[in-house]
Amino acid sequence: REAELLEGAAAERKRKVGAVIEDVERTLSTPTALLRGISDAMVTEMERGLRGDIHAAVKMLITYVDNLPTGNEQGLFYALDLGGTNFRVLRVQLGGKEKRVVRQQYNEVSIPPHLMVGTSMELFDFIAAALSKFVETEGDDFHLPVGRQRELGFTFSFPVNQTSISSGTLIKWTKGFSINGAIGEDVVSELSKAMERQGLDMKVTALVNDTVGTLAGGRYVDNDVVAAIILGTGTNAAYVEHANAIAKWTGLLPKSGNMVINTEWGSFKSDKLPLSEFDKAMDFESLNPGEQIYEKMISGMYLGEIVRRILLKLAHDASLFGDVVPPKLEQPFVLRTPDMSAMHHDSSHDLNIVGVKLKDIVGVADTSLEVRYIARHICDIVAERAARLAAAGIFGILKKLGRDKLPSGGGKMPRTAIALDGGLYEHYKKFSSCLESTLTDLLGEDVSSSVVTKLANDGSGIGAALLAASHSQYAEVD
Ligand code: GLC
Repeated sequence: REAELLEGAAAERKRKVGAVIEDVERTLSTPTALLRGISDAMVTEMERGLRGDIHAAVKMLITYVDNLPTGNEQGLFYALDLGGTNFRVLRVQLGGKEKRVVRQQYNEVSIPPHLMVGTSMELFDFIAAALSKFVETEGDDFHLPVGRQRELGFTFSFPVNQTSISSGTLIKWTKGFSINGAIGEDVVSELSKAMERQGLDMKVTALVNDTVGTLAGGRYVDNDVVAAIILGTGTNAAYVEHANAIAKWTGLLPKSGNMVINTEWGSFKSDKLPLSEFDKAMDFESLNPGEQIYEKMISGMYLGEIVRRILLKLAHDASLFGDVVPPKLEQPFVLRTPDMSAMHHDSSHDLNIVGVKLKDIVGVADTSLEVRYIARHICDIVAERAARLAAAGIFGILKKLGRDKLPSGGGKMPRTAIALDGGLYEHYKKFSSCLESTLTDLLGEDVSSSVVTKLANDGSGIGAALLAASHSQYAEVD
């Protein structure tokens, strides 16, 4: 009798688990037709952004970068990269067309979490201090001509209203940063003041978004690079636009005829996006509710958290981890995307890694193989949706560039290269391979054979240094 009851309870639990999973699969699914609709909506919003429509879902920020690196850049330049969980400082000796990057050194420092939500002065002082220390270690194999000031490319990976290549005011924080009093301030002058306080004599000659840095770094090594995508803590894209297609641009038409646009696509939203109850709840409880909706469905800061929320529902509604809901699972952001990736890539017969992660993170020892399979399956659903949505965005950019189909006159399809960077793309293999196969699927075989995606590993650091070089105060002299 007791055995029968137990069996009945187990069957009931199984049924409930199955029902929740089915529901999750349905609400998070991204059929190709839906992706096409999302790409079209992205293009529509991009066009609105270029017109300066304040209601556009993507801002399409003008970057003042109207020329990308040529290879001729020469000299010693510094770069500073702020915008994720780490920040980097870099110096590079550029040797011109033949010698290219003669030597480079960098240092990576993780940002103490309290600085991400503290005061602007504390954050900039911390950065300037690290930069100043780094400058002190500059050896004899780096050369600065006598009488010259050191110059810096500042990669600041947040939305900025640029007022020139080397100035701009912060529009809003994203990705878990929330610092009072910084919005509306010129970030270059904040950094410059902090450098002065450190006694560091250095001039910021280029202020760039990480996507723009990656685009510049990508172009330096491949002439066909026309767009750059970041898939890391956050997500964003930049691409080369025809200056005369930017209705809101009131300045002179640049000689090159081009202007790099920072799309800030992370803020894209559309009723076509497959938003689930988990996304809505996560957004509601976030530091920036209602904002960065596309980013919250795709990027590394959030994927693990979505998985946690689904597992929590399975625990609550279907007793996935037994009669009690594991208290640790209630804690926002305990499950990080790297852990999710480790579980997702576990292909061992007993899903040992999944078991270890569930024990360490969720606090349930001895999970059954079935429970481990379910946990891995949830990772798969969430990562696949993210990768497919990102591919739809890239397809949208290619559409905007007119590189999504064969030339109408029947001419040869030009080669198109896209630089990608960010920890999610670099380290989460199942994510990047799904992104690539989805893009191939959207483009069709004929077109996709002339589109290449390539990892631009820390392209944004080198890219910022290259832009600092081409906008050097000594550029005319050289
Ligand atoms: C966020 C920022 C954006 C940045 C991206 C990737 O979306 O708003 O400026 O490029 O993250 O780091």
